[in-house]
Amino acid sequence: MVKELKNINKTENITEVKAPLVDALNSAYKNPTYQFHIPGHTKGKAVFKDFKKLIGEKALNIDTTDEFDNLGTLHPATGPIKEAQELAAQAFGAKKTFFLLNGSTAGNLAVAMALTKKGQKIIVNRNCHRSILTGLIISGAEPVWVCPKKINDWSIWGNIEAEEIEKLLKNDDKISMVWITNPTYEGVVSDIKSISEVCKKYNVPLIVDEAHGCLWNFNKHLPETALKLGADVVVHSLHKTGGSMSQTSMLHVSENSCIDETCIEKALKLLHTTSPSLILLASLDAARANLQTETGLKLIDNAVSNAKYLRKRLDNIPNLHQLKADFGYKTDVTKVFIKIDGLSGKRLESILEIDFKIEVESASDIGVLILCNMGNKRSEFKYLADALEKIASTNYKDIYYLEKRKHMPMLEPIIKMSLREAYYSEKESVLKQDAIGRISAEVVAECPPGISILLPGELITEEHLPYLNDYETLEVVK
Ligand SMILES: Cc1ncc(COP(=O)(O)O)c(C=O)c1O
Repeated sequence: MVKELKNINKTENITEVKAPLVDALNSAYKNPTYQFHIPGHTKGKAVFKDFKKLIGEKALNIDTTDEFDNLGTLHPATGPIKEAQELAAQAFGAKKTFFLLNGSTAGNLAVAMALTKKGQKIIVNRNCHRSILTGLIISGAEPVWVCPKKINDWSIWGNIEAEEIEKLLKNDDKISMVWITNPTYEGVVSDIKSISEVCKKYNVPLIVDEAHGCLWNFNKHLPETALKLGADVVVHSLHKTGGSMSQTSMLHVSENSCIDETCIEKALKLLHTTSPSLILLASLDAARANLQTETGLKLIDNAVSNAKYLRKRLDNIPNLHQLKADFGYKTDVTKVFIKIDGLSGKRLESILEIDFKIEVESASDIGVLILCNMGNKRSEFKYLADALEKIASTNYKDIYYLEKRKHMPMLEPIIKMSLREAYYSEKESVLKQDAIGRISAEVVAECPPGISILLPGELITEEHLPYLNDYETLEVVK
């Protein structure tokens, strides 16, 4: 049992924080059985020795799947898994929470499978993650694109305007859902409250891919979560910033949601592995519990104050610029997007990596994205700020070589065919330069950030070429 105390909902109400799945796994470890079931490495006994040494015997010992050792099942949720999901729902302020393996990708696929169908029109922001598009290709629903504002100085997409959503809904009464991403990868935050009011006015559900915002409910200096602002379903990548293990996420159905959560449950049952990793599931339970302990809350406070410290230091570096909240949009303070005059983002990224052993979240042609995480120490931010100071005052200009390469797709799509029709059409592979004027038959999206350069059904133009340096050929409709 997690021993720490937590101030639930930041009130006077101090309660003990439970982590039932962590406890159950611990108990299974302490009460071993003779195992004649999967996984066949049998508590690590049949594992390559170097891997065993690396990962540790204990980790292998607790690597099991659901159904065994009184750990409960994921589909349907039973036992400690069910209890852990219920505690997560309470902590995030949801009516129902589902644990996700295969990340928020699984959540987005489940939303598409459960809530959309062939021919239905769905408002989606063009800079959505490719998992949403995969979902729409599978279901056959038609995206109605909303293009967020462009922040040209930074070559990134900005916030989504409620007015834009309303315009689309007003013009087409066949639109049956709004599905948007908030925040953007670089931390730009849209006005979800106004967007949700518009959705309610037109009686359509609002789904928010809040993959990068799972800490928001736990700190008053971070933006408000869409769960509190009227969204019906919210997806969170706990593994990105919430402290769980890679590929684990959560899907929340909000308290007053207009959607029936059993459809989501059924879709997840079909999409998920039938052998869920208990380590991964327990890591979600642990992450949620941690965020409710005094220590966890302090770690988020530290992330915020380290971000503020870093931003203050960066303000004093000549030639260095950082993305800040502006008229029309807010930002998540912990996501620091910077650029240095005379250096492309990719060049800056490689200088940081090679000369300073610093790895950032991502780089575009313009800048680099730094995540101020719960696990980073103040001393690391000092080191980073010192390094950036040195870089900004050194002449690296002679070796920046990437001007013609672009990384953040910012193009308005020219749609020639439906997403699904083009994806499932007869295709051929042609050289990139011969693809101009043809219709794309594939999703071309680099990760990070997983935002599409080209989608099935879109016309390939000369403008796409700077984003396609790594491609020799493209799949086009025959
Ligand atoms: C906005 C957004 N949604 C969904 C995803 C998919 O998340 P996951 O990696 O957890 O599958 C990502 C991943 O980068 C993302 O940026």
